[in-house]
Amino acid sequence: MNRKKIAAANWKMNLSQDEGDQLIQDIIAGIPGNLACEVVIAPPAIYLTQMIKQLEGTDLQPAAQNCHPEVSGAFTGEISAAMFSRIGVKYCLVGHSERRQLFDESNQFIREKVDAILENQMIPVFCCGESLALRQRNEQNDFVRLQLEESLFHLEEEQIRKVVVAYEPIWAIGTGVTASPEQAQEMHAFIRLMLTGRYGQTTSDTIRILYGGSIKSDNASILFSQPDVDGGLVGGASLNASSFLSIIEAANT
Ligand code: 13P
Repeated sequence: MNRKKIAAANWKMNLSQDEGDQLIQDIIAGIPGNLACEVVIAPPAIYLTQMIKQLEGTDLQPAAQNCHPEVSGAFTGEISAAMFSRIGVKYCLVGHSERRQLFDESNQFIREKVDAILENQMIPVFCCGESLALRQRNEQNDFVRLQLEESLFHLEEEQIRKVVVAYEPIWAIGTGVTASPEQAQEMHAFIRLMLTGRYGQTTSDTIRILYGGSIKSDNASILFSQPDVDGGLVGGASLNASSFLSIIEAANT
């Protein structure tokens, strides 16, 4: 199955506006001419308006790191999916483990966000993945299954086709410990099997499943060459133009 790969950058809460501008300029300057993958950048929300202008006419796509499902209202400090969509944001991360852990986001709340992102014509990048304790007890599959069932499996077939899934084992995020290509492939195949069970093979075959967790320029190619790994969601290594550009190269196959 030939799915278009994605190299996605999650800057998290990093970089000044000027550093971000420079990074985008350097990425645009170094992007391969024969781009065959999608490149998605999720900066801190406050930089998005300016970044969207910078990205005009390029192949790079702007993304939000989070959103609120309500359109508007008394939600101090929040930004709605509708607001992001109106300024030209194309993708929105949802269910990142840092949101789940640090801000207590439940599968139910994440489901509402997924719906809001789709209603506003953006693409959800749905993050899932288990903790180290769960993996040590070999409970990772049951945990990820519940995340998918409770936040995604209410979607209709034409909606799920728009979703990008990102498997990010918590023990690999920011730790320097990357899942082995075999561990990544095993979980990605399991996720695809679940998608097949719910939506059928044809639909499941179209859905991109990204890996995230300590991706670097030197491990991206081997991870992305696994049959069910359709690119990556990159944190630390996306903050440097040359390392992110080499990860784009690895996805550009
Ligand atoms: P690192 O690449 O820094 O491990 O972060 C991964 C991540 O959380 C991307 O969303």
